Amino acid sequence: MSEQGQIVRLLQKRYATRSIDTKTLEESVISDILEAARLTPSCYNKQPWRYLFLESEEARQKGIKALADANKPWASRAPLLIIGTTREKDDCVLPGRSYHQFDLGLSVMNIMLAATEHDLVARPMAGFSPETARELFGLDNEDEPLIMLAIGHPSDDEAHLPEHYKGAEDKPRERKAADQITQRL
Ligand SMILES: Cc1cc2nc3c(=O)[nH]c(=O)nc-3n(C[C@H](O)[C@H](O)[C@H](O)COP(=O)(O)O)c2cc1C
Repeated sequence: MSEQGQIVRLLQKRYATRSIDTKTLEESVISDILEAARLTPSCYNKQPWRYLFLESEEARQKGIKALADANKPWASRAPLLIIGTTREKDDCVLPGRSYHQFDLGLSVMNIMLAATEHDLVARPMAGFSPETARELFGLDNEDEPLIMLAIGHPSDDEAHLPEHYKGAEDKPRERKAADQITQRL
Protein backbone atom coordinates (compact mmCIF):
# COMPACT_ATOMS: atom_id res chain seq x y z
CA MET A 1 0.00 0.00 0.00
CA SER A 2 1.31 3.45 -0.85
CA GLU A 3 2.32 5.73 1.99
CA GLN A 4 0.04 8.61 2.88
CA GLY A 5 1.22 12.02 1.73
CA GLN A 6 1.99 14.91 4.03
CA ILE A 7 -1.21 16.79 3.23
CA VAL A 8 -3.48 13.83 4.03
CA ARG A 9 -1.61 13.36 7.28
CA LEU A 10 -2.06 17.05 8.06
CA LEU A 11 -5.76 16.79 7.24
CA GLN A 12 -6.07 13.82 9.56
CA LYS A 13 -4.37 15.79 12.28
CA ARG A 14 -6.72 18.77 11.79
CA TYR A 15 -9.70 18.42 14.04
CA ALA A 16 -12.08 21.26 14.85
CA THR A 17 -11.69 21.04 18.59
CA ARG A 18 -13.32 23.69 20.78
CA SER A 19 -10.95 23.44 23.75
CA ILE A 20 -8.67 26.40 23.21
CA ASP A 21 -5.96 27.79 25.44
CA THR A 22 -5.72 31.56 25.98
CA LYS A 23 -1.94 31.58 25.39
CA THR A 24 -0.86 34.24 22.87
CA LEU A 25 0.38 33.14 19.45
CA GLU A 26 3.89 33.81 18.28
CA GLU A 27 4.36 36.46 15.59
CA SER A 28 6.06 33.94 13.27
CA VAL A 29 2.98 31.70 13.44
CA ILE A 30 0.63 34.58 12.61
CA SER A 31 2.87 35.54 9.66
CA ASP A 32 2.75 31.96 8.41
CA ILE A 33 -1.05 31.92 8.61
CA LEU A 34 -1.21 35.20 6.69
CA GLU A 35 1.13 33.87 4.02
CA ALA A 36 -0.98 30.73 3.64
CA ALA A 37 -4.05 32.91 3.01
CA ARG A 38 -2.14 35.13 0.58
CA LEU A 39 -0.76 32.25 -1.51
CA THR A 40 -4.20 30.79 -2.21
CA PRO A 41 -5.21 30.35 -5.84
CA SER A 42 -8.40 32.04 -7.04
CA CYS A 43 -10.50 32.22 -10.18
CA TYR A 44 -8.70 34.59 -12.62
CA ASN A 45 -6.42 35.40 -9.68
CA LYS A 46 -9.03 37.88 -8.39
CA GLN A 47 -8.16 37.26 -4.72
CA PRO A 48 -11.59 38.38 -3.46
CA TRP A 49 -10.87 37.55 0.19
CA ARG A 50 -10.17 40.15 2.85
CA TYR A 51 -9.38 39.30 6.47
CA LEU A 52 -9.60 41.04 9.79
CA PHE A 53 -7.13 39.51 12.24
CA LEU A 54 -8.47 40.38 15.69
CA GLU A 55 -5.33 40.25 17.82
CA SER A 56 -5.51 43.16 20.27
CA GLU A 57 -7.76 42.74 23.29
CA GLU A 58 -9.93 45.60 22.04
CA ALA A 59 -10.43 44.00 18.62
CA ARG A 60 -10.97 40.55 20.12
CA GLN A 61 -13.66 41.86 22.47
CA LYS A 62 -15.48 43.44 19.54
CA GLY A 63 -15.22 40.17 17.61
CA ILE A 64 -16.63 38.23 20.56
CA LYS A 65 -19.72 40.47 20.46
CA ALA A 66 -20.37 39.26 16.90
CA LEU A 67 -20.19 35.56 17.83
CA ALA A 68 -23.33 33.44 18.16
CA ASP A 69 -24.14 32.55 21.76
CA ALA A 70 -23.29 28.88 21.13
CA ASN A 71 -19.76 29.82 20.05
CA LYS A 72 -19.03 32.48 22.67
CA PRO A 73 -18.10 30.27 25.67
CA TRP A 74 -15.20 28.56 23.92
CA ALA A 75 -14.29 30.80 20.97
CA SER A 76 -13.91 33.87 23.20
CA ARG A 77 -10.79 32.23 24.69
CA ALA A 78 -8.98 32.19 21.35
CA PRO A 79 -6.00 34.58 21.25
CA LEU A 80 -6.71 35.10 17.55
CA LEU A 81 -10.14 35.57 16.00
CA ILE A 82 -10.35 36.10 12.28
CA ILE A 83 -13.21 37.50 10.22
CA GLY A 84 -13.13 36.39 6.59
CA THR A 85 -14.94 38.56 4.06
CA THR A 86 -15.36 38.31 0.33
CA ARG A 87 -16.02 40.80 -2.48
CA GLU A 88 -18.57 39.98 -5.13
CA LYS A 89 -17.13 42.71 -7.33
CA ASP A 90 -13.91 40.66 -7.43
CA ASP A 91 -15.70 37.59 -8.76
CA CYS A 92 -14.25 36.13 -11.96
CA VAL A 93 -17.76 36.45 -13.48
CA LEU A 94 -18.59 33.36 -15.48
CA PRO A 95 -22.18 33.18 -16.79
CA GLY A 96 -24.51 31.76 -14.15
CA ARG A 97 -21.71 30.93 -11.75
CA SER A 98 -20.13 32.66 -8.81
CA TYR A 99 -16.66 31.91 -7.42
CA HIS A 100 -15.77 34.61 -4.89
CA GLN A 101 -17.12 32.63 -1.93
CA PHE A 102 -15.44 29.49 -3.26
CA ASP A 103 -12.14 31.39 -3.40
CA LEU A 104 -12.55 32.60 0.18
CA GLY A 105 -13.21 28.99 1.22
CA LEU A 106 -9.97 27.87 -0.39
CA SER A 107 -7.97 30.48 1.47
CA VAL A 108 -9.71 29.66 4.77
CA MET A 109 -8.68 26.03 4.27
CA ASN A 110 -5.09 27.13 3.74
CA ILE A 111 -5.27 29.12 6.98
CA MET A 112 -6.54 26.02 8.79
CA LEU A 113 -3.78 23.87 7.36
CA ALA A 114 -1.08 26.37 8.28
CA ALA A 115 -2.48 26.57 11.82
CA THR A 116 -2.63 22.77 12.06
CA GLU A 117 0.99 22.49 10.99
CA HIS A 118 1.83 24.68 14.00
CA ASP A 119 -0.18 22.34 16.26
CA LEU A 120 -2.93 24.92 16.66
CA VAL A 121 -6.70 24.61 16.64
CA ALA A 122 -8.43 26.59 13.88
CA ARG A 123 -12.19 26.22 14.05
CA PRO A 124 -14.28 27.88 11.34
CA MET A 125 -17.57 29.43 12.43
CA ALA A 126 -20.64 30.42 10.46
CA GLY A 127 -22.20 31.11 13.86
CA PHE A 128 -21.74 34.87 14.05
CA SER A 129 -23.64 37.98 13.06
CA PRO A 130 -22.34 39.52 9.82
CA GLU A 131 -24.37 42.67 10.61
CA THR A 132 -22.70 43.09 14.01
CA ALA A 133 -19.26 42.46 12.49
CA ARG A 134 -19.99 45.01 9.78
CA GLU A 135 -21.13 47.61 12.27
CA LEU A 136 -18.38 47.11 14.88
CA PHE A 137 -15.52 47.10 12.37
CA GLY A 138 -16.97 49.65 9.94
CA LEU A 139 -16.78 47.18 7.07
CA ASP A 140 -17.27 48.43 3.58
CA ASN A 141 -20.62 47.52 2.01
CA GLU A 142 -18.82 45.54 -0.67
CA ASP A 143 -17.12 43.26 1.88
CA GLU A 144 -19.39 40.35 2.78
CA PRO A 145 -18.43 38.78 6.14
CA LEU A 146 -18.86 35.04 5.62
CA ILE A 147 -16.79 33.22 8.19
CA MET A 148 -15.06 33.66 11.51
CA LEU A 149 -12.19 31.51 12.77
CA ALA A 150 -11.05 30.87 16.32
CA ILE A 151 -7.34 30.05 16.42
CA GLY A 152 -5.24 29.08 19.40
CA HIS A 153 -3.34 26.34 21.13
CA PRO A 154 -5.41 23.29 22.03
CA SER A 155 -6.26 22.79 25.68
CA ASP A 156 -7.10 19.68 27.70
CA ASP A 157 -9.18 21.78 30.06
CA GLU A 158 -12.84 21.38 29.10
CA ALA A 159 -14.09 23.41 32.09
CA HIS A 160 -15.10 26.32 29.86
CA LEU A 161 -17.05 24.11 27.43
CA PRO A 162 -20.85 23.86 27.68
CA GLU A 163 -21.89 20.39 28.94
CA HIS A 164 -23.05 19.16 25.52
CA TYR A 165 -19.62 19.78 24.00
CA LYS A 166 -17.64 18.02 26.70
CA GLY A 167 -16.06 14.82 25.35
CA ALA A 168 -17.24 15.71 21.82
CA GLU A 169 -13.66 16.29 20.80
CA ASP A 170 -12.75 12.64 21.38
CA LYS A 171 -15.36 11.27 19.00
CA PRO A 172 -14.13 9.77 15.74
CA ARG A 173 -14.42 12.04 12.73
CA GLU A 174 -17.62 11.54 10.74
CA ARG A 175 -17.18 11.53 6.98
CA LYS A 176 -18.96 9.94 4.03
CA ALA A 177 -17.08 7.06 2.39
CA ALA A 178 -15.01 7.89 -0.70
CA ASP A 179 -17.42 5.97 -2.98
CA GLN A 180 -20.37 8.02 -1.68
CA ILE A 181 -18.81 11.28 -2.82
CA THR A 182 -16.83 10.22 -5.89
CA GLN A 183 -17.36 8.30 -9.10
CA ARG A 184 -14.15 6.95 -10.53
CA LEU A 185 -14.96 6.56 -14.23
C1 LIG B 1 -18.47 26.89 6.95
C2 LIG B 1 -18.34 26.25 8.30
C3 LIG B 1 -19.03 26.77 9.36
C4 LIG B 1 -18.92 26.22 10.65
N1 LIG B 1 -19.53 26.84 11.71
C5 LIG B 1 -19.32 26.37 12.96
C6 LIG B 1 -19.81 27.08 14.10
O1 LIG B 1 -20.44 28.14 13.99
N2 LIG B 1 -19.56 26.55 15.32
C7 LIG B 1 -18.85 25.39 15.50
O2 LIG B 1 -18.65 24.98 16.64
N3 LIG B 1 -18.35 24.72 14.43
C8 LIG B 1 -18.55 25.18 13.18
N4 LIG B 1 -17.98 24.53 12.10
C9 LIG B 1 -17.16 23.33 12.32
C10 LIG B 1 -17.86 22.07 11.82
O3 LIG B 1 -18.94 21.76 12.67
C11 LIG B 1 -16.84 20.93 11.75
O4 LIG B 1 -15.82 21.26 10.85
C12 LIG B 1 -17.53 19.63 11.30
O5 LIG B 1 -18.43 19.21 12.28
C13 LIG B 1 -16.53 18.51 11.05
O6 LIG B 1 -15.72 18.31 12.18
P1 LIG B 1 -14.13 18.34 12.03
O7 LIG B 1 -13.79 19.66 11.40
O8 LIG B 1 -13.58 18.24 13.43
O9 LIG B 1 -13.73 17.20 11.19
C14 LIG B 1 -18.11 25.06 10.84
C15 LIG B 1 -17.41 24.53 9.73
C16 LIG B 1 -17.50 25.12 8.49
C17 LIG B 1 -16.68 24.56 7.35
